[in-house]
Amino acid sequence: MAIKVVVSGTGKMGRQVLEAVCAEPDLEPAAVLSRLAAEEYLSLPDGSGLVPFGTDPAGLFNRTRPDVVVDFTNAERTPAVAHEALEAGARLVIGTSGLSEAFLKELERECRERKLGAVVASNFALGAVVMAHLAKIAARFFDHAEIIEMHDEGKVDSPSGTAIATARKMAAGREGPFQRAPVQRETIEGARGGAVDGITVHSVRLPGLVAHQEVIFGGPGETLTIRHDSSSRESFMPGVILAIRDVMERQDAVFGLERLIGLE
Ligand SMILES: NC(=O)c1ccc[n+]([C@@H]2O[C@H](COP(=O)([O-])OP(=O)(O)OC[C@H]3O[C@@H](n4cnc5c(N)ncnc54)[C@H](OP(=O)(O)O)[C@@H]3O)[C@@H](O)[C@H]2O)c1
Repeated sequence: MAIKVVVSGTGKMGRQVLEAVCAEPDLEPAAVLSRLAAEEYLSLPDGSGLVPFGTDPAGLFNRTRPDVVVDFTNAERTPAVAHEALEAGARLVIGTSGLSEAFLKELERECRERKLGAVVASNFALGAVVMAHLAKIAARFFDHAEIIEMHDEGKVDSPSGTAIATARKMAAGREGPFQRAPVQRETIEGARGGAVDGITVHSVRLPGLVAHQEVIFGGPGETLTIRHDSSSRESFMPGVILAIRDVMERQDAVFGLERLIGLE
């Protein structure tokens, strides 16, 4: 039986996810949820038919009974979508960034109580997951590190969820704290960037970028740079499809793709 998937959000990622779901024979697009749904039905991008299109999560989930809801929207929208999905007995794959710690804790609790799976990842590109894993390994050998993350100019939150998750992983990968060269004289405020767990983080926002990150380690007489580039949103789709299949077997919430691909 095909896995019935509702896609939440019709932004750049939502549209890409819908296309990717249509291309997988074991997945069935069941509906699309959007703040802007004006019609009752939406044509699928591959021309294979129509699916219900709605603005109200509870109404749409009760009508279509999805197995999995995939959400790429906005930190203000995701909590309501997630709660209604679990209420309707659906599992979740969430890629929205900037989600609060309070929401993530609540989601973890709700999934455990209902025995329903959720996969929440700040980056579904498999290369980015490997990049963060390598950065965690390298963190043991260098006392200084900075992250430069680069995204399109429309990205709402800074720094990116990937940069925060990478920094936390790096800090957890070593015994003592990172050393951060003190800010001596900042002639332009913010020029030295922000800090996460002692790691300086710089956010670049420019048209033409998709999602890119460099982790630079510094030691006496050497630097090590680990870089990942998503040059198109297609890069996130193998991870999203993997998560949709994986979450069907889960009864709890998992954060990050590492466990799904055997890195943790
Ligand atoms: N985890 C990952 O790998 C990954 C990769 C790329 C992006 N992201 C994240 O995924 C999210 C969506 O990215 P995107 O590039 O698709 O962004 P986008 O093109 O701006 O689309 C966001 C969509 O969210 C929906 N939305 C619902 N409530 C909203 C609100 N209050 N304000 C704004 N939008 C709202 C809208 O869809 P409707 O009008 O249909 O409701 C909107 O089109 C972002 O949080 C982004 O950082 C994650």
